[in-house]
Amino acid sequence: MKLNHCLKTLVIASAALAVPMTALAAPAPILIKFSHVVAQQTPKGQAADYFKKIAEERTKGRVKIEVYPNSQLFKDKEEMEALQMGSVQMLAPSLAKFGPLGLKEFEVFDLPFIFDDYAELHKVTQGPVGAKLLHKLESKGLMGLAYWDNGFKVMSANKPLKKVEDFKGQKMRIQSSKVLDSQMRSVGAIPQVMAFSEVYQALQTGVVDGTENPPSNLFTQKMHEVQKYVTISNHGYLGYAVLVNKKFWMGLPADIRTILDGCMKDATVFANSVAKKDNDEAMAAVRKSGRSQIITLTPEEKAAWRKAMDRTHKDNMSRIGADVVKEVYKETGYKP
Ligand code: LMR
Repeated sequence: MKLNHCLKTLVIASAALAVPMTALAAPAPILIKFSHVVAQQTPKGQAADYFKKIAEERTKGRVKIEVYPNSQLFKDKEEMEALQMGSVQMLAPSLAKFGPLGLKEFEVFDLPFIFDDYAELHKVTQGPVGAKLLHKLESKGLMGLAYWDNGFKVMSANKPLKKVEDFKGQKMRIQSSKVLDSQMRSVGAIPQVMAFSEVYQALQTGVVDGTENPPSNLFTQKMHEVQKYVTISNHGYLGYAVLVNKKFWMGLPADIRTILDGCMKDATVFANSVAKKDNDEAMAAVRKSGRSQIITLTPEEKAAWRKAMDRTHKDNMSRIGADVVKEVYKETGYKP
């Protein structure tokens, strides 16, 4: 009887204890899924991983970031829809993929030869014109937190692309940008929009003949193994905007959002500090592999590409918006 009473008291005491224990348990961390389409060793892949590391550290476990590289979670087109629907919280799509969202202004970044180098690019991405463009995302329920650099593109194919005439009839994979479509047509190529995740196989099986990308993407997707020639042309730029769903971001506790904004600033400095080096190293690795022959354009050949592609600017002026194009020209000094 006495023992029974003791046992009862113990059960009641532990049940009473269990209530505050549950109440004290830490709330589940806020989960941010960050989806992207490239390899982890690329500038974007490394920056996403760096953001995860510092965000988890600085929020002391209140935020958990899951990074899904290489189109593991979503492919190009799906990822934008998923972000708008809230099934993923963070993306960093290429600026050439905003047209289908209805934000054609971002295709200004795709205009051939508009930036000579990173310094000119940064005048836009780190200045008022870039900020104004990011602001436009809000009409789509999104927010642009930062621009992350990748780099200047090379052209690859199974025939040497040196002269403008060499492009004639070549089926070239492009991102979903009308400006890139016109750029390819301006030299007589046949553009074909395709998700990034499908490019390697399309090149391997001959569905397309060639493509354009910064060396970091070309090398990490092993495209150089299925392309006989790579032309160093630096004819255009490819980079990113980091996007979040506005409702999700603004619904975060204010202290968490402030910490994450700080992490994004630091991840951006990181991304932009590795981009050039990564691309230079990737180009050196492509060269070293001996799998494709590297072509360097003479100044005359490059001038001929530029002359042929220049009409892309005029042809897309009203699509992008003359005001945006002119604002960018003002920053970069581009003369059509
Ligand atoms: C491409 O589709 O070629 C690129 O946008 C991939 C990327 O995200 O760099």
